[in-house]
Amino acid sequence: MLDQSINHRFQAAQVLVRDAGLYALQWFRNLESLHTEKKGPQDWVSEADREVEKMIQKRLKLMFPEDGFFGEESGFQQKDSEGLWVVDPIDGTSCFLKGLPSWCVSMAYVVEKEIEIGLIYAPCTDELFAAHRGNGATLNGRPMRPSKATLLSEGIVGLGYSPKSSIEATQKAFAYLFENGGVYHDIGSAALMIAYVAAGRYLGCYEYQINSWDCLAGICMVRETGGWTNDFLAKDGLHSGNPVLAAAPDIKESMLNLFRAAGH
Ligand code: IPD
Ligand code: CA
Repeated sequence: MLDQSINHRFQAAQVLVRDAGLYALQWFRNLESLHTEKKGPQDWVSEADREVEKMIQKRLKLMFPEDGFFGEESGFQQKDSEGLWVVDPIDGTSCFLKGLPSWCVSMAYVVEKEIEIGLIYAPCTDELFAAHRGNGATLNGRPMRPSKATLLSEGIVGLGYSPKSSIEATQKAFAYLFENGGVYHDIGSAALMIAYVAAGRYLGCYEYQINSWDCLAGICMVRETGGWTNDFLAKDGLHSGNPVLAAAPDIKESMLNLFRAAGH
């Protein structure tokens, strides 16, 4: 696909991801009237997740009818396209439903196993994280830089857990981090935690098992800032999920050691 047409998508989707976040914010301001259902253990969906995803899908279809769509709430639409939008309408749904601010809209554009575009908008902080492969990554228009730290003891690592993950592996990852002087955050949104690696706020991020819509946009950003991630799309990661590991450049070896300690 031509770089020009990807750039056109990048520009249009930056407007869309922000509009989608502001749309979600309307429900966030009126949580008491929101209809919510449980999808699985510690896994919820609300009218807001579904409506925001519908809005994104509708606008993408109007702008780029040839593109495919894969969303957390509605699955695959139009499978045989060259380019595919992978969308999480609200990442951090458990935070959203409890009135906590760490949630976001996440959109990635994938062409032949390459993540060409990564966009994350966090409405409560009005932060737009944006990456276009080969063209860098920005936070509200300013270039992002990863941490220059060389040791886990110099900062924070995002460590996620959900019932999809192995308890034993996650405990081992925690143990490795603590034994090496590190500390962790789990802010309830993997997409945002990975974006924070690109922005230099976190040294790295790890979760044992995660879905593609939670992490592809963030992975694009980390790579664009010169950071490192695992090959998430290997072995059908798009459909079935995979572990995710992201690191600032000089923390890569330490994060790989944490990954091995967790048994990968
Ligand atoms: C979840 C969040 C959470 C991560 C889970 C995800 P959701 O997504 O990203 O941080 O630990 O694995 O499922 O349910 O809020 O869209
Ligand atoms: Ca999610």
